[in-house]
Amino acid sequence: TPDEWVPRDSRMVRLTGKHPFNAEARLKDLYSYGFFTPSNLFFVRNHGAVPMVDEPTAREWKVEISGLCQNPVTFSLNDLRSMFEVVTIPITLVCAGNRRKEQNVVQKSLGFSWGAAGLSTALFTGVRLSDVLEFVQPQKGAKHVIFEGGDNLPNGPYGTSQLLSWARDRRKGMMLAWAMNGLPLEPDHGFPIRLVVPGQIGGRSVKWLRKIELSRQESQHHLHFHDNKVLPMPLGPDRARAEKDWWYDPRYIIRDLNVNSAIACPDHDEVLQVASTDQYTLRGYAYAGGGRRVTRVEISFDEGTTWELAQIHYLEDLFRDVPYDDSIYGTLDLTESDQSFCWCFWSFEVGVEVLKSASSITVRAMDESLALQPRDMYWNATGMMNNWWFRVCIHHLE
Ligand code: MTE
Repeated sequence: TPDEWVPRDSRMVRLTGKHPFNAEARLKDLYSYGFFTPSNLFFVRNHGAVPMVDEPTAREWKVEISGLCQNPVTFSLNDLRSMFEVVTIPITLVCAGNRRKEQNVVQKSLGFSWGAAGLSTALFTGVRLSDVLEFVQPQKGAKHVIFEGGDNLPNGPYGTSQLLSWARDRRKGMMLAWAMNGLPLEPDHGFPIRLVVPGQIGGRSVKWLRKIELSRQESQHHLHFHDNKVLPMPLGPDRARAEKDWWYDPRYIIRDLNVNSAIACPDHDEVLQVASTDQYTLRGYAYAGGGRRVTRVEISFDEGTTWELAQIHYLEDLFRDVPYDDSIYGTLDLTESDQSFCWCFWSFEVGVEVLKSASSITVRAMDESLALQPRDMYWNATGMMNNWWFRVCIHHLE
């Protein structure tokens, strides 16, 4: 296959055929590394072959910025590094298809079956997109910023766009990043440079970034329209025609992530040896979109009739007392002022007696806008944004 040269970890679970590479770690493995995912276990979503970029090519790599701006310019990585403040931000990327498997079990959607590990977190290092846009001086009439990757797909390069007003907003934290957890990006994750859009679905974070264009209209790239939408529920005989139009309906585009959570311990199919102990600690993750913080995680042992509060662990708690040398990676911006772009973990101690009498464990999270995970699945044709309550069923083996 074209990607044979790309280094990959055998623990990654392939979700599609041999090519392109789409893979997630086992949720328990992913979780066991803590807040930051090593890049070899970071989920991968590729629509085609990984562009082969060696060191010399990377040194020559250029990002061209054109369109409705006063200073169209072409930057090398070194230009970006030397001209703008270098920042490091903890960011969780989540594929819009995370947890799609549950939807596909109900009815096959158009996408492949991600488990609940279609997400990962890293400290991304780069420059702020808002600073770069300030430099090129957007002109009147520009409304969208279009990003294009260097991969060669059957329907043209991968590309998508952002509203210019969002892209200029420093609080949104969008960045042009060349490093993950202090190391250069891996080929699968966009080496030598990618866009990272915190708080939005992973599909907006264009890898192998080549071009930025300021424009009156949104991206016209094939996958900007034919991907990353939540189309309405099936509607009867006119569905096929309606679906064709729906791809182009800007109301159905997905930008911000929705609030979500999952249980990592115990994992599905895990056999618990609990006889000798009377307490077990349930663990998992939660995240929200748009820089909103997860404010509540709740657990139920009776399918949602009653709920108990889990304890939430935020990344910031961990970092409070750690000295940080910003001469290496630039300014470490943990929360990008009041924004939260990193997943949090939760835990809940439960007596084994409770688990013995329950038939399931359910988790749900709420974010600071008081958005709450729904009880019911919103099945949709693309199988995206699946955030109904997450359950692990308990089977009693005795
Ligand atoms: N960028 C390019 N150029 N090509 C792609 O196929 N996939 C997108 C996005 N950026 C993609 C891309 C999708 S759908 C996701 S979810 C994220 O990259 C995945 O990023 P990762 O593979 O680094 O986890």
